[in-house]
Amino acid sequence: MNLTLGNKIVLVGNGAVGSSYSYALLNQGICDDLIIVDLNEEKAKGDVMDLNHGIAYAPTAMKISYGSFEDCKDAALVVICAGAAQKPGETRLDLVNKNIHIFKSIVNRIMDSGFNGIFIVATNPVDILSYATWKFSGLPKERVIGSGTVLDSARFKYLLGEEFDTAAVSVHGYIIGEHGDSQLPVWSSANIAGTPISNRLSDERKEEIAFHVRDAAYEVINAKGATYYGIAMGLVRITKAILRNENVVLPVGTLLEGEYGYHDVYIGIPAVIDRSGVKSIVELTLTDEEKSKLAKSVQTLKDIQDSNKF
Ligand code: 2OP
Repeated sequence: MNLTLGNKIVLVGNGAVGSSYSYALLNQGICDDLIIVDLNEEKAKGDVMDLNHGIAYAPTAMKISYGSFEDCKDAALVVICAGAAQKPGETRLDLVNKNIHIFKSIVNRIMDSGFNGIFIVATNPVDILSYATWKFSGLPKERVIGSGTVLDSARFKYLLGEEFDTAAVSVHGYIIGEHGDSQLPVWSSANIAGTPISNRLSDERKEEIAFHVRDAAYEVINAKGATYYGIAMGLVRITKAILRNENVVLPVGTLLEGEYGYHDVYIGIPAVIDRSGVKSIVELTLTDEEKSKLAKSVQTLKDIQDSNKF
């Protein structure tokens, strides 16, 4: 069956991340039709009203409404932000059992609608839940995209931008692996305008930056209970890349099928994103140290995959 085109988006899960996504989407004017689905109908309807009151000042017209899983039938994108959230002291992986269970029911209901578009998954642990969505939906892997390390890479770019007094957008660098504690920065290819960054920083400074990227979520959660603006911007960036057929490289969660030497695991890796979803995976040249850290990250995710049923 052909992929559903157009630019209708269904957001499933209207918590802090979901509602920040809607707001960022409205501000960037990249979709005509947004439907919000959530068990908490009252809060979702309140958000729909509030967002609609901003349309007069948005860059483009947009229809925003409350809906149900049946609305996924002709959606181009379904963005899932639903599920239990990380509490202070919890890791992303602590959420696994609760959220796999929730996802089975959500994804089945979406597929029952006749959905034939692209999934973007943001709920944690995002690598495992992207894998679960791919398994439960039966869609080709190109059409199930996790937010992967899109946020971690943005944090990396921000910190390096500060370090070198250069706009984050001009810093090129990736965090790869699990969106979680086993992630790694690819220092060997990080650069500003083609100039390598790695040899301009001491090993100690690099460790500090990697630590701040990895533990950023814990810091924000301790300070205000949750993270949502950064991830919302990352989700909108992926959305725009798909709907505008951008052919741009973004670090997203995707299934490895031999790339980097691994199979059957969803993980954060740079990939080319266009209207078909993940068009191809970019294979970075890694140092031996980076390869061994990636191996540990893959193993962390595989151990969880193996101890769950999909
Ligand atoms: C984050 O990294 C908690 O996954 C969320 O901000």
